[in-house]
Amino acid sequence: MSESYTLYNEKVMDHFMNPRNMGDIKEADAIGEVGAAACGDIMKISLKIDETTNRVIDARFKTFGCGSAIAASSMATELIKGRTIEELEKNFSNDNIVEALGGLPPVKIHCSVLAHEALNAALEDYKKRKGI
Ligand code: FES
Repeated sequence: MSESYTLYNEKVMDHFMNPRNMGDIKEADAIGEVGAAACGDIMKISLKIDETTNRVIDARFKTFGCGSAIAASSMATELIKGRTIEELEKNFSNDNIVEALGGLPPVKIHCSVLAHEALNAALEDYKKRKGI
């Protein structure tokens, strides 16, 4: 396919073609699953979290979604590993995902929002499980 046919940069294509951290974590400490009303895509993020430091030690995703959703959740799982839930709540947004991907077409920004929402749902799940 000629370059001119794609709206996506190389980094987005790389995360779409070779997604990082795809799958489920067995005995996850937190699971977040959300759907996008506009397109019907679904995203699930599962996390392993160190209880003493509240740091994400592993993150995986599954998506029934478009290529940008795959690329955004692949990048999101890479970006959140090693960070605490407090940092993620205060200093992490879909903009960080888009920036790390080197940009997404405007019509695909909501795919990064979906990844961020799945993360937030997982963080809420963790807090509910731990009573914090
Ligand atoms: Fe809806 Fe990508 S088109 S998540």
